[in-house]
Amino acid sequence: MYINFWYPVAASDAVTNEAPFRTRILCVDFVAFRDTDGNPHVLSDTCIHRGAALGEGKVVGDCVQCPYHGWQYAGDGRCTKIPTLPDDKPPARAKVDSYPVQEKYGIVFAFLGDLPAAERPPLWNIEEYDADDWRANKLVVFEVDYYYERSIENALDPAHNEFVHPKQGTPGMLLDFKKTPIEMDAIGDWGSGFMIPFTQLDPEKGLLAQANQHNDEVVKAGSGYFGPNAVVTWLHFTAENMFHQYFFEAPIDENRTRIFFINMRHFMMDPKHDQQIVDINMEIAQEDIDVMEKLNPVRTPETTSKELLVPSDEPVMHFRNSLKDWEKRGWRLDLKRLAELRGDVATAIPSPARREEKNWVLDEVPLIPKEH
Ligand code: FES
Ligand SMILES: [Fe+2]
Repeated sequence: MYINFWYPVAASDAVTNEAPFRTRILCVDFVAFRDTDGNPHVLSDTCIHRGAALGEGKVVGDCVQCPYHGWQYAGDGRCTKIPTLPDDKPPARAKVDSYPVQEKYGIVFAFLGDLPAAERPPLWNIEEYDADDWRANKLVVFEVDYYYERSIENALDPAHNEFVHPKQGTPGMLLDFKKTPIEMDAIGDWGSGFMIPFTQLDPEKGLLAQANQHNDEVVKAGSGYFGPNAVVTWLHFTAENMFHQYFFEAPIDENRTRIFFINMRHFMMDPKHDQQIVDINMEIAQEDIDVMEKLNPVRTPETTSKELLVPSDEPVMHFRNSLKDWEKRGWRLDLKRLAELRGDVATAIPSPARREEKNWVLDEVPLIPKEH
């Protein structure tokens, strides 16, 4: 898991001025709420008084109020009221981390990290999102019992489809692409993807072993990642019949992941098809889930000597190399250390304000040291 990227916190309609929304991402808790102008805010959930969960409190005006002793925190993380102090006046140290927020695609995203604005990786821009000839399904949010890197790697894996996805017509890789490492093209500065031909076969025909350009229909498909936690699958069955499926993922902890799924389509534009398309996509997702929940080990191995990789694993390796780069920058959470601390020490993901001000009550989450 990595700090300094944009993470999906909640569906837009779950974040209100009525009640706080509490959620866990990157092994720590957050609270989201809207101020009276409707602007969303995402703060560290742990009250710095004596540790209550702010997300279990109330929204009072522009603040979230702790359920334990009623301290109030504004959207910038400053405590604005301590009911038991003279004049309610909080000291300078009374603040929690507040994270930069963007609302897009019906999702409230937070930048979970401390980079100043000019250095932040951007939120992935879905170019076709507002295009007239594309339609976005209503956002689907679901949770799975596996580690998010396994999920991203699964989406980047062209060789599993013909075995895992009978509901998609078991798309098979052409032999040429099985033998040679797939070429990856950059997606901006923070991602990479590929697009290759596939055959789509009736599973009854049993032709997969000899698939080539001359038998059966050729489909173009591929996938790409952007940052550690977002992935797209491009499915171009014909020039008209196309899907682009985006997963924005929030690693909840070492074993569980929340996926915000945006399905874009270029055909069957009538909204009456929305539900049917969600249903079939979730059936296909379930085919993946059934395999993914049982991967051993749960998290990606630290060394590839404990796996036997082949050329079709190239996109997965590409992704892992990007993760290594981000680890070298000092952005990777030290999950083992964090697990040791859990229960004894409350931690927070460092917010940009930590670069400007000292004097924070909570410790930062432990990170793998930067490589010099
Ligand atoms: S623990 Fe939050 S106000 Fe006391
Ligand atoms: Fe799959």
